[in-house]
Amino acid sequence: RPRFSNILIKINEEAADFYHRVLVSTNAGKRGLEYAQSRDLNNEIINHFRIGYAPKQDNLLLTYLRGHNYQDEDLLNTGLFVQSQAGELFDRFRDRLMFPLCNEGDYVVGFSGRRLSTDKTEAKYINSPETKIFTKSKTLFHFAEAKKAARSEKHLILYEGYMDVIAAYKAGIKSGIASMGTSLTDQQIYMLRRITNNIIINYDGDDPGIHAEERAAKMFNQVGGFNLGIVVLPEKLDPDEYVKKYGIEKYQDEIKGALTPTDFFLKRLAQKYNLANDREKLAYLDEATKEIAQLSNPVEQDLYLNKVAKEQSVSIDSLKVNLTKYRRQQN
Ligand code: GTP
Ligand code: MN
Ligand code: MN
Ligand code: MN
Ligand code: MN
Repeated sequence: RPRFSNILIKINEEAADFYHRVLVSTNAGKRGLEYAQSRDLNNEIINHFRIGYAPKQDNLLLTYLRGHNYQDEDLLNTGLFVQSQAGELFDRFRDRLMFPLCNEGDYVVGFSGRRLSTDKTEAKYINSPETKIFTKSKTLFHFAEAKKAARSEKHLILYEGYMDVIAAYKAGIKSGIASMGTSLTDQQIYMLRRITNNIIINYDGDDPGIHAEERAAKMFNQVGGFNLGIVVLPEKLDPDEYVKKYGIEKYQDEIKGALTPTDFFLKRLAQKYNLANDREKLAYLDEATKEIAQLSNPVEQDLYLNKVAKEQSVSIDSLKVNLTKYRRQQN
């Protein structure tokens, strides 16, 4: 066991062990374990991700940590407790499946707790608040592990949710990471760039997910130097649901079939038009050509012009005339 110079990390680590033990080996944890099983989380996954359960009963974590002689002031500073007007401490997380959130060194700095019930009046996930050791905009779920996996997998895969990172892990993809339920930040992009230029974005296949992919792709582009792949899953599924429905191998195929940002954009664009109507088709071709004109590599330009020309049964030469026009406008 490592020694922690930082008391807040030490307490978070103890809490992770506590929640984990409650989940795997106590009666109080049965509810949590049943939920975990309903989400297809097996023992290996539960152990690897140090998943735990915050019990329903009041203040078991508080009692446990006080019993280990931690001071209330330190306990409060971890964000694991809330304080009443009267100054009393209470466990922040109750009756939730607990996902430890780790720093770059893989030490626990906070938690995200998922509600077990389907009661939509309660937040689905509750996170630790920001503390001296936990800054959401600079934290990525599973980053310490994914960094190592990126050496052999040659990429990092960005997900929306913790459960998606875990589903990918089950599918043998260990390079998955996720932001803290907040949208992606520039700081996180810089963290990724230190590891690899090859980034695959695989958010949920629903509208918000696809919009977030678009936004993320723009941000990566702005920072520059990335080789992006974008996966759009069918039927509005998220990766966890996809793996459950179609299995591991199909999911791996989806990753291999990741779209280039231009393909992604053109596909999205095509959906905005009724291409059976000539007027709309012309508008689409105009917008598509404009997008292709932005590419700096002439071979890439040719590739996509060809694709669009073929798909819409027009000549590539006519598209090229337009392309030249847009290129000139740019300069
Ligand atoms: P499951 O339903 O458990 O599979 O979660 P999910 O990951 O599919 O959730 P969803 O697609 O709705 O949201 C993606 C991510 O956003 C989650 O993993 C969380 O990090 C975050 N998120 C979702 N709901 C909440 C919420 O109520 N509060 C906070 N703080 N974050 C949330
Ligand atoms: Mn681990
Ligand atoms: Mn979602
Ligand atoms: Mn989801
Ligand atoms: Mn999900």
